[in-house]
Amino acid sequence: MEKLVITGGTRLKGEVVISGAKNAAVAILPATLLLNGIYTISNLPNISDVKITCDILQDFGAKITWNSRNEIVIDTREIDGREAPIDKTSKFRASYYMIGAMLGRCGQIEVGLPGGCNLGARPIDQHIKGFEALGAKVDIGQGKISAKAKKLTGTSIYMDVVSVGATINVMIASVLAEGTTTIDNAAKEPHIVDVANFLNTMGADIRGAGTDVIKINGVKELKHEGCYSIVPDQIEAGTFMAAAIATKGDILIKNCIPEHLDCITAKIVEIGGHVEDLGDSIRVWNNKRPNKANIKTLPYPGFPTDMQPQMGVVLSIADGTSIINESIWESRFQYTNELNNMGAHITAQGKTAIVEGVKELLGAPVYASDLRAGAALLIAGIIAKGTTELYNINHIDRGYEQIEEKFRKLGANILRVNE
Ligand code: UD1
Repeated sequence: MEKLVITGGTRLKGEVVISGAKNAAVAILPATLLLNGIYTISNLPNISDVKITCDILQDFGAKITWNSRNEIVIDTREIDGREAPIDKTSKFRASYYMIGAMLGRCGQIEVGLPGGCNLGARPIDQHIKGFEALGAKVDIGQGKISAKAKKLTGTSIYMDVVSVGATINVMIASVLAEGTTTIDNAAKEPHIVDVANFLNTMGADIRGAGTDVIKINGVKELKHEGCYSIVPDQIEAGTFMAAAIATKGDILIKNCIPEHLDCITAKIVEIGGHVEDLGDSIRVWNNKRPNKANIKTLPYPGFPTDMQPQMGVVLSIADGTSIINESIWESRFQYTNELNNMGAHITAQGKTAIVEGVKELLGAPVYASDLRAGAALLIAGIIAKGTTELYNINHIDRGYEQIEEKFRKLGANILRVNE
């Protein structure tokens, strides 16, 4: 068991380079199963979710070579596995993309139920609805999902809820289907566009990704080789934006796409922070205590739920009382109990949290309940007076590459300690 020991009180200053997007990577890697060929994937974040994804792909028979820390070559010419066991799939949510990809490749797959962050109920009914509409038979039982299809046929699918995972999964499954598939009420997150761009690079014919109607014209075959570089991580960039504001710091965030950050930038400007768009990087700084603000999480281009805990920390030390409304996940306020142990005044009930800003946080032992809660508590430790011990950091390692090194370069005092 490892923990982070953070000595707080630093104003973060300097440059940070953002890694490739976790949520794109964990979809693009399974999508390579559609191929019979060799693909090079670069700007891949070196995080534990990516490593487990690669592990499952290898179980299926893929050959993976790491060219460098952030680039792999994946050879999918000899895929023979059809099952991914629950001890692997339960470690992360995105294991569900194996279903869409293997249905597309060979019409058969069995995976253990997906795991991931504990954010409340995480249904996958929209994924199943999409697969069934394409002609698959899907069964769930004994901790497994199995899906079979003699043939997938394009059709129109209306998503009852805006779902990132279901949109991507159905898009992947439709690439090699016969005819045209239309996904209505599709999610529009940057990583959806990135997965569509990747699939199109492989020879798919997908139009409209990034809007709420996506059309996939089925193709008979994909190219046998190519390379693709993953888009920068919107949420990692947002996490450093929040850290700059919370610590009254000044950070140059490199390798990001500023327009993907508009929803976060708008909130930061509202609370009195400054953001300068420099093309492929942004500078974020702040000299004074943040103002209060209300936040409601929404699908993209709304304020991302995955940034709610990090902004919750910023608002915990704001001047005034803020209200946070979490409209995507039912239990995403677990971090507020930990923040209260550090001196914050947050009352969370159901989907709403009332955050009464305090002047300062105090170091304390705290526990990460999930990935973004972990990132938020790390920021809290950096602004708190005294020492914070942050436990359950395996959650953070799922989605942030070299997080303490990146924060240390900005001046934070963080040690990873083996207990
Ligand atoms: C993805 C992200 C996650 C982020 C979330 C929302 C990945 C690997 N994870 O998760 O970090 O927090 O988007 O931006 O990309 N829903 C249903 N039925 C379904 C699917 C979803 O009712 O079949 C509901 C969910 O309960 C939730 C909402 O739709 O309330 C959004 O979920 P979804 O966008 O699917 O989240 P994930 O793809 O799991």
